[in-house]
Amino acid sequence: MNIAERSLPPAIEDPRERAMLLAALYLAQEQNGWLTPEAIRRVARRLKLSEGQVRSTASFYTMFRLEPRGRYHIQVCEGLSCYLVDGAETIIEHVARKLKIRPGETTPDGRFSLEIVQCLAACDMAPALKVNDELYGNMSLAEIDALIERLAQS
Ligand code: FES
Repeated sequence: MNIAERSLPPAIEDPRERAMLLAALYLAQEQNGWLTPEAIRRVARRLKLSEGQVRSTASFYTMFRLEPRGRYHIQVCEGLSCYLVDGAETIIEHVARKLKIRPGETTPDGRFSLEIVQCLAACDMAPALKVNDELYGNMSLAEIDALIERLAQS
């Protein structure tokens, strides 16, 4: 889903409440690797918001996950800078072939998931990708293979 397809989250008037909600969602996600329905309920209860407000806000930001993902969540950038250096499509196809999954899927062993994202704010290192919170830039296909193989054994 691109940003134009997403509707804005419901208005939370107080900027402090909005900031607290994002921080609470981040912390809740850290506990399980994704925002479970129970985590959404807990955050809503603590901040006195509706579950709909919390879920809608979480679904707006790509950093929040509403479904479980692989232990190593690979995000490949298909933003303009990465596309122009011929990285995006080549890397996406390469990683998908290597892991035998399509973007949006998780390997059967739960180890890897693959997602296509827009700019990772690392255009000067295009092509860029992230594995969980770790950013990798200027990656060749051989370096990506080595990274995946290292992660597969960890
Ligand atoms: S376009 Fe890929 S990091 Fe910016």
